Formats: sequence, structure tokens, C-alpha cells
Amino acid sequence: MTSARSASDPSPSPPPPPDAAPPGPRGGRGTGNAADFAVDPLGFLARCAREHGDVVSLTPSNVLLAHPDDIGRVLVDRGGDVVKVRPGERRRGGTGFPLAMMNSEGAEWSRKRRRLRPAFRSERLAGLDAAAADAVARTLDRWEDGSVIDVHAEMSRLAMHVGAVHIAGRPLGAEADALADAVAAIMRLTSSPVRLPAWFPSPVNLRLRRALRALDTALEALIDGHRPDGGATALGLLLEERPAAPFEEVRDELATLLMSGYETTADALTWLVHCLGGAPEADGRLREEARRGTADAGGAGGYVAAAAKEALRLYPPAWVISRVAVRPVRAGGYRLPAGTVIGISQWVVHRDGRWFPDPEAFRPERWLDGGGPGHRYAYLPFGAGPRGCLGASMAVREMEAVVRALRARVRLEPVEPEKVRARPALALQPLGVRAAVRRERPGK
Ligand code: HEM
Repeated sequence: MTSARSASDPSPSPPPPPDAAPPGPRGGRGTGNAADFAVDPLGFLARCAREHGDVVSLTPSNVLLAHPDDIGRVLVDRGGDVVKVRPGERRRGGTGFPLAMMNSEGAEWSRKRRRLRPAFRSERLAGLDAAAADAVARTLDRWEDGSVIDVHAEMSRLAMHVGAVHIAGRPLGAEADALADAVAAIMRLTSSPVRLPAWFPSPVNLRLRRALRALDTALEALIDGHRPDGGATALGLLLEERPAAPFEEVRDELATLLMSGYETTADALTWLVHCLGGAPEADGRLREEARRGTADAGGAGGYVAAAAKEALRLYPPAWVISRVAVRPVRAGGYRLPAGTVIGISQWVVHRDGRWFPDPEAFRPERWLDGGGPGHRYAYLPFGAGPRGCLGASMAVREMEAVVRALRARVRLEPVEPEKVRARPALALQPLGVRAAVRRERPGK
């Protein structure tokens, strides 16, 4: 994948005439663009930005924004001009959990977000280090020196354990399979180039329906088994705050929190292992820091933190997000009418040479000594503004704790890294990341 542009590009072109439509492939019309997107979303979006600029018409009602000025305006400064969930949309079913905060808007969203926030504040995150150390220790007990592991499967187990302890207060037992199946079914559905309507009894839809039913049952068991924790966990907050949230809402909230905490973090950890496998020097530096112990765990900076940031830049699990304009929105001199669906792709912006020199290279050093992107809104692994990721600090802390604990004890030697592929489903999934386990000898 090549970068969209480089830092030496000439200054912006003259403003477009008022009410002109932004340029785009095939003049921004036709089903051809939708087909190209479906076949290779990452390549298509990167090409659009490279060839058509910072505001690109994908269809008459879909626009891609590639300039951080416009992205910041839409997500943060003029966040009131857009919505994430269109009225009526969330009730339509499919993969949605309609009562969850993530799928709400307006006052309802604000109330639900406020209720959950305490469980994700930094002072509540210290427990993650212990949960991660515990999960890693169990994992290492299972790994034999020299064996070849499926890194994504292993990181998924780890993330499931740590996420459930933080969100629900205990690791999942039988419920773990139901959650993993539901996430796999959603990923399969969202990565399919042809999406049939939810009512159609296709194998993918039927599998999803079955998986969601099983997940409901598993979540009910988790909720019924909750032991009061004074609101220390998100589940505690939902069940113990007065008034407690209605059962269906707790279930939807729990489903989305467990899912978002699980797949994205597992993907991010797997990509980080993949990146380190191809960068022996960076890996060596990270190992040194990991072996020095956990002294700066949770603190800002450090090489582990920089490596995690860099993996999230190159392989952002949230590779595209969207908003719908409820009022006209200005972007790059164009006026986008209400109703426009605005796409923002982390994959595109994070690999733009204007904000990240040598954008395709994995270079954790770019984040050290106060370094960072050439623009505040050019780095958005967790989104930005009021609807930014609720679990961002949790995810970062968890990634760092897991990698630190793992790397102090083992090296993961890449196996056939040339076969690794990115699958852009609801999250950017790594396919084919395998590694041979090499135990580090103490003191060496
Ligand atoms: C590496 C891991 C993660 C990544 C890359 C990620 C990314 C994101 C992004 C980009 C958004 C904003 C979406 C948008 O603007 O449309 C988001 C929202 C959200 N994330 Fe995460 N996330 C991660 C981990 C987590 C974790 C661990 C949790 C909680 C357990 C979580 C819970 C949420 C919730 C609840 C929202 C919705 C916020 C709202 O609508 O107000 N995420 N995430």
C-alpha cells in the first residue's frame, strides 16, 4: 500500500466553486465504486485519497474526508452537525445491540456514557496489570518452547480474559465460546463483499442469528451470577447504581463492551507481534525495557508504549468510521448537504506521508521524545471528540501490560510472515500471523 501523499506536496489548490460536488472515481457516481470498495476496501480508499484529494465523492451521498483539519472539524469542533446513529436505524436489527450506549444518540447516549465512564477512568485501570500478568502466566504455561502458535487465537484468549475481568469482574467460563462465536459471525458478515439483508436465510445470516441467541443466554448467566462490587466494574455500575438499568439494556451494554474490548485489542496485539517480528532492532529494544520490569507500567512514554502506538498507526483495528451530516458540513471548500454520509479512514490518514514521514515503515522511535504526528487529528486509532473510544486508556494499558509480560519471557519468531494479510471486517483483522515460541533464558 503506498502513501497518499508526501510532505513535499505543493500547497492546496484554489477553492472549488460554491456547491460543486467533490471529485471522485467515476465522477463520484455509479455502483462501480461500491463494488470496488466491497472487493478491496483498503486499497480503494487509499487510491481515492491519492488520486482525488482530501474530499472525495464515493457515491452521490457518500464522501471520504482525508484531511485532518476536516476530520477534526467533523468529529470534534462541529460534532453537533453530525450523528453516528441515524434516527430509526438502530432498531432495524442485524448485528446491533440497540439499547447499548454505543448505538445511542443525543441525551440517551450522554446519560449512558456518563454512567459507564467511572469504570474506565485511569484510577480504575491499575487492576489491568495484574489481570494481564495472570493471563500471560497461564498462557506461557500452555506454550511449549519451539511450538508454533496461531498468534491471533492466543491474543484473543488473552484479551477475552483481561477484558472480562475488567468489565464483568471475573473471567468467562462457558460464556467465552458464545462470545467468540458471536464476534466471529459478525466479522464474517462484515467482511463479506456481498451482504444480503438480515432476514435472508443465508448461511452467514443463520450462523449469526444462532450465535447471537447463544450469546444472549451466556450473558444472562453472567448477569445473574454477578456479585456486588460497589460499582467497581462496568457490570457493577449497570446493576448496582440506583435505579439499576433494565435487564435488556444491561445485556446489550455488556455485549458491546465485551465485544469491543475483545476483538479490537486482540487484533492490535497480534499486529504488534507481527510488526515486532519484522523489526529485530525494535524488538530488541522493547525486550530490554520489558526485562527491566514493570516499573513504568501505566506511565506515559517508554519504548513499549511507542511500539504499541506505532502498531495502532500502521494497523488501526478501527480502520474506518462514519458520521451522517444532520446539517450542511464544510470540508476542503465544499459544502456537503445534510444527509451526506461522511467516511473517515484511519487506514488512509495514518499512512499519509504529509503527517508521517516514511509512512509504511514500523518505527516506534517516531513517538519518542515528544514526537508524534504532523497534525493533531492525523492519528485517530480511538477516534476523537465526544464519541471517541470509551475504552482507549484501558486498551492501551492492557496492550502494554500484555506485551511487557510476554516479551520478558519469550520471543515470538515469525513463521511465514509473507502470508500475513489484513482482513477489513468490522475490525481490521490479521490473518495468518503465526510464530514459533522461543523461551528467553533468564539473565541473558
Ligand atoms: C485497541 C483497541 C480499541 C480500538 C482500536 C478502539 C477503537 C474505537 C474507535 C475508533 C471508536 C470510535 C468510533 C467512532 O467514532 O465512530 C471506539 C468507540 C468505542 N469503544 Fe473502542 N476501541 C478499542 C478498545 C475498546 C475497549 C477495550 C472498550 C471497552 C471495554 C471499548 C469501548 C468502546 C465504546 C463503548 C465505544 C463507543 C463510544 C461512544 O459511542 O460514545 N473500546 N472505539
